[in-house]
Amino acid sequence: MEYLLRFIQTHETFRLPEIQALADLEGIPMEVISYSLDSPFCTLKLPDDDSARSLLSRSITAKAIYALWGSGPTYPTLHESVLATSTPWWPQFQGQSFKFTIDSFQGSRTHADICELINSFAYMSFTGPVALKNPDMRFCVLEDWAFDAQAHGSSTPQHLYLGRLVGTSQREIVGKYDLKKRRYISTTSMDAELALITANIALARPGAIFYDPFVGTGSFPVACAHFGALAFGSDIDGRAIRGKGGRNLRANFAQYDLAPGFGDSFVADLTNSPLRPGRYLDGIVCDPPYGVREGLKVLGHREKRVGPVYDGPDAHHLQPGRVVSRGWATSILDADCE
Ligand SMILES: C[S@@+](CC[C@H](N)C(=O)[O-])C[C@H]1O[C@@H](n2cnc3c(N)ncnc32)[C@H](O)[C@@H]1O
Repeated sequence: MEYLLRFIQTHETFRLPEIQALADLEGIPMEVISYSLDSPFCTLKLPDDDSARSLLSRSITAKAIYALWGSGPTYPTLHESVLATSTPWWPQFQGQSFKFTIDSFQGSRTHADICELINSFAYMSFTGPVALKNPDMRFCVLEDWAFDAQAHGSSTPQHLYLGRLVGTSQREIVGKYDLKKRRYISTTSMDAELALITANIALARPGAIFYDPFVGTGSFPVACAHFGALAFGSDIDGRAIRGKGGRNLRANFAQYDLAPGFGDSFVADLTNSPLRPGRYLDGIVCDPPYGVREGLKVLGHREKRVGPVYDGPDAHHLQPGRVVSRGWATSILDADCE
């Protein structure tokens, strides 16, 4: 069956990767029929409404998913498409309360326009009552206007869809994790929305172990823990982890009732990582020092290379064949992911 996904029109390059990751996570076969970076509307083939609901249930880049009842470049073609596609479905919705809304992307409609557009679907003759609060069925006419089209005198959108709402996403949690409301942040704390999208793309989930080697104030581990993962983090700067006056990395987990998702944190230089190599982590999500506000620091001597100093038994770095270097590049992360 065909569905219409209503994305947000920001973080465009992350939208499809997030949805594809969520389809993989839920084991949902999904075929993308149409998608463009310039539009928030994407059409998909999915097995059924339950799959559509599951697909969206933890998305951040999408707002809602609709069963697609018709589409077209003009209202007459939209109505033709609605009649051709959805007529067989009407009987099962008879007697149910319903509501129609209009979602105009890059456009606006007057109240009179909205009433007229909604009334133009009266031929569907649903017998149930109109209910503005908690209706059984929600229909939406989605208009895709070209950028600035109305300002340049256009009165017609470039594409139209009619959808029956099937599921909504988790976008409301972006506000909950907003850095403005977080008790412990720094100048380089990762934006909450991007951290949540990243955790989705990385498949953070219950039973999975995630690690951030540049943890700072913990935005990524918090996002991973939100989706049920057990999250660990380390940073070369212990002050970032410890914070001050009770405001610290651990407290950020507590603020969102995510204490069980906090694995632990420790101080370490990634270029001399104390972790053993091996495939025991389910995911590494991080925001490497990018050199503008937060440059890379490494442990070592300015003039001469000295090996790291360890307490206790030899770590894997000291084993033959392991090169400890002061040089560092993201290729180290890439190589570790292979
Ligand atoms: C861009 S910030 C990460 C911010 C973090 N994502 C947050 O939300 O607060 C980069 C972090 O990398 C740390 N860092 C720099 N060099 C490092 C190294 N060699 N090993 C581990 N951490 C390092 C810095 O101390 C800093 O906290």
